[in-house]
Amino acid sequence: MRTLLAAADIRREVERLGSRIDREFPEGPLVIVGVLTGCVLFLADLVRAISRPVRIALIQASSYRGGATRPGELRFDLDGLPSLQNLPVLLLDDIFDTGRTLSTLRTELLARGATSVQTVVLLWKSARREVELLPDHYAFEIPDEFVVGYGLDYNDHFRNLPEIAVLEPCDIEAFRASPPS
Ligand code: IMP
Ligand code: MG
Repeated sequence: MRTLLAAADIRREVERLGSRIDREFPEGPLVIVGVLTGCVLFLADLVRAISRPVRIALIQASSYRGGATRPGELRFDLDGLPSLQNLPVLLLDDIFDTGRTLSTLRTELLARGATSVQTVVLLWKSARREVELLPDHYAFEIPDEFVVGYGLDYNDHFRNLPEIAVLEPCDIEAFRASPPS
């Protein structure tokens, strides 16, 4: 594995992103909807870098299945979301890859009555975009490589790494068949 972004760089950029959201997001209540599971570390750090009051909601979504590093069918579960009627929403995920997850979820949240849905991600793999949507806020633009750490996983491994690392083909081979025990 090769380090792409050190923990200190992530901390600095997440704090910068929090201040920018504080300045640029419309006045009033701020509801952040995080996409599980990859969002958890980024969400926890970003909300502490935002000084205005924030409400947090979570949705479950997945598009990578098991040992694949390319997206499969998108599944999501919006049960348990609080009412978003007449509220501006910030939809947060770990990474904007093809953009299909955020584009689909954004449409769903607008259909549930959110007045606006801006998107925020830690990482933007810009070369892979397959939708019209662009992320409204992001911390790092990265090349088209499979990355893990700081919430991102491969086959459920590596979410607790404090840095972002690139998985080399030999790492992918080593962890393909084995979910963490
Ligand atoms: P998208 O719908 O193609 O934008 O994919 C978004 C989802 O795919 C993210 O929420 C991640 O869970 C996952 N994903 C995309 N690229 C990577 C990666 O490089 N490492 C780990 N997960 C990834
Ligand atoms: Mg995800």
